[in-house]
Amino acid sequence: MLNPTLEVIERRRSTRVYDPMPLAAEEREAILHAALRAPTAGGMVLYTILEVEDQALKDRLAVTCDDQPFIAKAPWVLVFIADFQKWLDLFEASGCFEIDDIAPRRSPGPGDLLLACSDALIAAQTAVIAAESLGIGSCYIGDVLENGEIHAELLGLPAYTLPIAMVCFGRPLKEQEPIEHFGGHLVHRDRYRRLEAMELAEVAADLERLHAPHGLPPGATSYPQAVYRRKFTPAYMDEMNRSVAWWLERWQGR
Ligand SMILES: Cc1cc2nc3c(=O)[nH]c(=O)nc-3n(C[C@H](O)[C@H](O)[C@H](O)COP(=O)(O)O)c2cc1C
Repeated sequence: MLNPTLEVIERRRSTRVYDPMPLAAEEREAILHAALRAPTAGGMVLYTILEVEDQALKDRLAVTCDDQPFIAKAPWVLVFIADFQKWLDLFEASGCFEIDDIAPRRSPGPGDLLLACSDALIAAQTAVIAAESLGIGSCYIGDVLENGEIHAELLGLPAYTLPIAMVCFGRPLKEQEPIEHFGGHLVHRDRYRRLEAMELAEVAADLERLHAPHGLPPGATSYPQAVYRRKFTPAYMDEMNRSVAWWLERWQGR
């Protein structure tokens, strides 16, 4: 079944090569407006969007986000910040911490953080789909979670904030064929169950068919082996995990 919305979702692909023309102001406004229409936990809009306009800052982020030069060439870059700081500031400014008969003062905890990340990511994906509907491609940059100390300083992020995703936007320079995403054994009923050996073999074979149609990289005898080498064990994931531990410590006021 397809309708215009499903068609937009169907043709979306990550875009990494951009027409250098800046996006029109109305396009940027429409995308931001759509992002703000996304559902948010408790209606609290627990995120802030940073528009990265300064070319020098983009150039730096292209290096600090695991050396991805296309970031510097993206016409529009947004960072989606999980943000509880603004609510702490609102509570403070509204005298909440002086009221005795409501819950005592506490700091935002891991639950607040996950809700804020959910809000920020749902808004980001809404922006991605809105952009796609206007013919504007996008690419997430998860590596904005790396180099926490540097990114907190570069983006001026206070304690109860965390850059959960960066998204580059721009018109694709060339037409891209949509790729099929692997969906085997994705939906379970009522209760999670770990896949059995036969099912794991099916998953591995399907992934290989979709993502390595021209053969596996040298040294790998199955697609999971290629992923293990290229996505699970490389140095950037060590940095990602070190840095996220730093963000979490910071959020907990340590
Ligand atoms: C959380 C997240 C982080 C990502 N980070 C990067 C990134 O740092 N660099 C990049 O080129 N693509 C990044 N991507 C894009 C994925 O590689 C891409 O979505 C995936 O390969 C599927 O391809 P498609 O988006 O074209 O369907 C990221 C996607 C997500 C959802």
